[in-house]
Amino acid sequence: MSGLFVTLEGVDGAGKSSHLGWLADWFTTRDGCVRVTREPGGTPVGEHLRELVLHEPMHPETEALIMFAARREHLEQVIRPALAAGEVVICDRFTDASFAYQCGGRGLSETRLEILEEWVHGDLQPDLTLLFDLPTELAAARLSGAREPDRFERERADFHGRVRAAYLRRAARYPRRIKVIDGSLDIDAVRGQLRDILCRLGDGDA
Ligand code: TYD
Repeated sequence: MSGLFVTLEGVDGAGKSSHLGWLADWFTTRDGCVRVTREPGGTPVGEHLRELVLHEPMHPETEALIMFAARREHLEQVIRPALAAGEVVICDRFTDASFAYQCGGRGLSETRLEILEEWVHGDLQPDLTLLFDLPTELAAARLSGAREPDRFERERADFHGRVRAAYLRRAARYPRRIKVIDGSLDIDAVRGQLRDILCRLGDGDA
């Protein structure tokens, strides 16, 4: 695979969507061809599964399996072909979200999810993951009133606290891949952090 695979992660309300367009512009200037996509979703099948998983009550294992089913399709139809064509793929959430939400938030076993991860993309990991981190109370305040909350956004504060903690554990485990951004700062300060990380890309640090 010759392209670059970049993923964005964080608790709901961490602000990653506000930086997606800027990141896409940055990579377009540097590399030319950029594909922006999201999970769950990114394909017709994946977008149907997204509707289901964001709005229908279901067992946590069903939820995890749907996330990986949507991911399987997304990898096949979008991510792998784009990377093979040398494009930069910027994906709004990927498998780190499954470990954070389904394991951290819902309490599923990491061993189970590792089996799914190995099955679905054992040979492929993101080259760079930008983790937007901030206290969950601040994230909740940013979200409130934005629009009708989905199943995950409606979860209680302790759920979001566990999701945040799980993300930070993954960042500590994979420090070369996952870069933590202080999402509590204003937009210019966050951009500054992003610029620093992106300028070091290729130095062997990311
Ligand atoms: P999100 O990026 O928050 O969409 P939006 O910004 O439009 O609200 O993603 C939707 C939700 O899906 C989010 O709350 C996290 C959840 N999710 C998981 O629980 N597991 C996963 O593997 C993925 C990809 C997302």
